[in-house]
Amino acid sequence: MKKKIIIDTDTGTDVDDAVAITLALKSPELKVEGITTVYGNTLLRAQIVLKLLKLMGINDVPVAAGVEKPLLRERDIWWPGHEGKGILTDEDKNLKPVDKHAVDFIIEKIMENPGEITLVTIGPLTNIAAAIIKEPKIIENVKEIVMMGGVARIFDNAPELPYIEHNIKCDPEAARVVFNSQIPITMVGLDVTLKVPINRSHLQKIKNVGTDLTDTLVRLIEIWWEFLKSDSSCMHDPLALSYCIKPEFLETMNCKVIVETQGKHTVGQTIVIPDENSNIKVACGVDSDGFIEFLIGRICSKN
Ligand code: RIB
Ligand code: CA
Repeated sequence: MKKKIIIDTDTGTDVDDAVAITLALKSPELKVEGITTVYGNTLLRAQIVLKLLKLMGINDVPVAAGVEKPLLRERDIWWPGHEGKGILTDEDKNLKPVDKHAVDFIIEKIMENPGEITLVTIGPLTNIAAAIIKEPKIIENVKEIVMMGGVARIFDNAPELPYIEHNIKCDPEAARVVFNSQIPITMVGLDVTLKVPINRSHLQKIKNVGTDLTDTLVRLIEIWWEFLKSDSSCMHDPLALSYCIKPEFLETMNCKVIVETQGKHTVGQTIVIPDENSNIKVACGVDSDGFIEFLIGRICSKN
């Protein structure tokens, strides 16, 4: 039985969302029921997803654009400006998402498939929080959330880690709604995702494939590395997505998670406390080499 997932993404800024979407669509273990976009220009993000689908020859996965501003509408949007470069042409302005808001799409899919849908969240949590607020019945009807977000800082590598992670920081109020919802959650945070970088040798392997899809991914990776002024970056979102395919790459620990929304210097911080009765699993260890080999293999596969 294929696992039914919806991916909620802020693709276009960090390249790892595009890699995660490609991984999902190249994985026979998954049935992607839809892809929703969140944060900033969600129509442009939806067009990026639609272009990726087109490059893979897929035309039966619905894409829905979602909420543009954080829940309380008081926080600035981080939009570096390279979103769409390297993938969208003038012609792609005609690519149209479905005529349904992402929040309604998520609610309807969950309610039509009770207990079956896994939400894979790889961006800020605004759409998911809005869906929970609009239709609280999804709490009992969604299977689980697999989330790239947060940082626990309670494991061995804590001293090397930042205090705050982007997806939570961009909309901490939404993250709080989601963490407090009682939905079963697996949080894949910076504790593990910073251990899975790709570098120039991985890029070369993707380049060697030479399809329109892989050439586009290579361009997107190069644009992101130019922005970072680096020649490597972490595969945060693909690692979270891989938990739906091969959970054995990650070790987890049950923990309570509190999101800081008000501290002067700590807005967006996730405070993580081990608690064996919690509905939240937090990733605490990763088979980095095994995961990267798997990821590059799937991205480079011809089918
Ligand atoms: O902190 C990493 C997260 O921020 C990832 O989802 C990445 O795509 C960026 O959005
Ligand atoms: Ca992302």
